[in-house]
Amino acid sequence: MSETRTPGGNREWEEHADWWRASFTAGRDPEYEEQILPLVRELVAPRPGQIVLDAGCGEGQVGRMLSAAGATVVGCDASAAQMGVAGERSDPRAGPVLLLTRGAVEALPVRDGVVDAVVVVLVLEHVADLDVAISEIARVTRVGGRAVVVLNHPLFQTPESGWIDDRILGESYWRVGPYLLEQTTQEEVDAGVRLTFHHRPLSRYVAAFVQSGLVIEELLEPPPPPGFLSLAPEYAQSCDIPRVLVLVARRAGTEK
Ligand SMILES: C[S@@+](CC[C@H](N)C(=O)[O-])C[C@H]1O[C@@H](n2cnc3c(N)ncnc32)[C@H](O)[C@@H]1O
Repeated sequence: MSETRTPGGNREWEEHADWWRASFTAGRDPEYEEQILPLVRELVAPRPGQIVLDAGCGEGQVGRMLSAAGATVVGCDASAAQMGVAGERSDPRAGPVLLLTRGAVEALPVRDGVVDAVVVVLVLEHVADLDVAISEIARVTRVGGRAVVVLNHPLFQTPESGWIDDRILGESYWRVGPYLLEQTTQEEVDAGVRLTFHHRPLSRYVAAFVQSGLVIEELLEPPPPPGFLSLAPEYAQSCDIPRVLVLVARRAGTEK
């Protein structure tokens, strides 16, 4: 594929945009439908006049939901292919405004302090330079505004983690990989779909927030909701292990 990258982007998301669209959006993924979208909506509390940046918006499902609920949303993503689908799926009649613009989390295409809330859903684990990304999120958020960051749970989704059925010992448990080791891995998440993940422990995320002036107000480890488990019963045995972690932070400082 030709060079279609913006800073921070990578070819994987150009190649796999169709896979993401077909598998995880538009009602296809029970975890988004039953957990992630309702939770983000509750935490952002979208309302008319509120400006929200959906950073790493993918094909736009989070931004569309917030826009339909009344917020003015700017969605940006490093992948041209993802932005293409987002453009096709945006409907000006569905909400107040949904603006789409290509851009990386490490260089957000937004002025300082103009955004009431930034949402970043399952993106930062694909971003190599966490400190730059978090300082960009802080930069564009107005004083008193919020950042809502959804991550694959950094502890329980450490590389090499997962459910183990040991038939010999007769034990079943969730194995945790080398949690404290920061590492970059390429994982085959589906047949022929290889994605790069940057694993770092939770303390690295907290340090990046603190350094950039984002004060963490909530840390959530939501259990899989019943609606998700009824649609994805294979997760019932590990229902006490959270799959996602949510950080909600407020931009500290004084208004200029
Ligand atoms: C797992 S998808 C999540 C998409 C969307 N946030 C959602 O929840 O539907 C990850 C997205 O992050 C984007 N991404 C990866 N690295 C990025 C970066 N450095 N800057 C902006 N977007 C990035 C990818 O292009 C992809 O669309």
